[in-house]
Amino acid sequence: MMIATKNTTQVDAKALEQKVKMMYTDVAERPKEPYHFEMGRQLAERLGYPASKLNKIPAEAIESFAGVGHFFDLSHIKPGDHVVDLGSGSGLDAFYAAQLVGLSGKVIGIDMTPAQIEKANRLKTKNGFAQVQFVESYIEQIPLPDASAHTVISNGVVNLSSDKEAVFKEAARVLKPGGRLVLADIVSNQTLPESITCNASLWAACIGGAMQIDAYIKLIESAGLTVIATVTNPYQFISNSAQSATRDYGIKSISLMAVKAS
Ligand SMILES: C[S@@+](CC[C@H](N)C(=O)[O-])C[C@H]1O[C@@H](n2cnc3c(N)ncnc32)[C@H](O)[C@@H]1O
Repeated sequence: MMIATKNTTQVDAKALEQKVKMMYTDVAERPKEPYHFEMGRQLAERLGYPASKLNKIPAEAIESFAGVGHFFDLSHIKPGDHVVDLGSGSGLDAFYAAQLVGLSGKVIGIDMTPAQIEKANRLKTKNGFAQVQFVESYIEQIPLPDASAHTVISNGVVNLSSDKEAVFKEAARVLKPGGRLVLADIVSNQTLPESITCNASLWAACIGGAMQIDAYIKLIESAGLTVIATVTNPYQFISNSAQSATRDYGIKSISLMAVKAS
C-alpha cells in the first residue's frame, strides 16, 4: 500500500515512504550509529521526560527514541483511557502512556516501518506491557473504529507524511467527542520553497515536510478539532543543512493540543 497522495504535488510519496522506512529501520536496528538528528535518553531528558517515568521504559525503546518534544503535560491522560500513538517508532511514548492509563487502559501504537513494530512488540512482550499493542499500518488510514480513543498522540511524525490532511482527519475520526490530539512536530515560520519540499531526502530528514505553522493549525481545525495550546520545544537539529534551514525558514519543534467538540 502506498501513502495516499491527495493534495500533494510536491514530493514523490512512494520515494518518500521508502526513504522513511529505510531510515527508521536503521533507527530501530542500529540506534548507536550516527544520525543527522539527536536520539536517545539524553534527548528525552532535555525535552522534559521525567527520569522516574523513563526508568520504567525498556532501555532499547529509549535508545531508538527520535521524538521532538514532550507533550504529556498537555494530555491529561487518565487511568483506564484508550490512547493511540501515530508513528510509534520503538515505543517510548506508548510505554510512557501505558504508565498513565494503567492496566485498565489501552495504548495502540501505529507505525508503517516493520522493524520498528517488531522491536516495539518484542519489548512489550519481554517487559509485560499487557495494555499496549503495536500495529503495522499507515497513519493516513488508521485501522481503528470511529470515536474509539480518548487521546491521540504523535511525536515527530506528521511532518513526514505527504498527506497531512488525511492524518488529521483520521485522528479526528478515531477520537471520542471531547477527546484530545496531543502531538509534537516540526513546523516552520515561513512556507518552504520547492527546492526543499520536492526533495524526499530532506523530508525523510524531518525538514522538507515541515508545514508553515498557521497552515498546519488550519488543517487541524478543518479536520474538526479546536487547537487550544501550542508550545515551542527545546529541540535542536544537528546537521549543518538542517541548522541553516532552521535559520532561513524558522523551522522548529512545537507541542500542540487540540480538542474534538463534545
Ligand atoms: C521521527 S520517528 C518518531 C518515532 C517515535 N514517535 C519516537 O518519538 O521515537 C518517525 C516514525 O514515524 C513512522 N512513520 C512515518 N510516516 C508514517 C506514516 N505515513 N504512517 C505510519 N508511520 C509513519 C516511521 O516509520 C518512524 O517510526
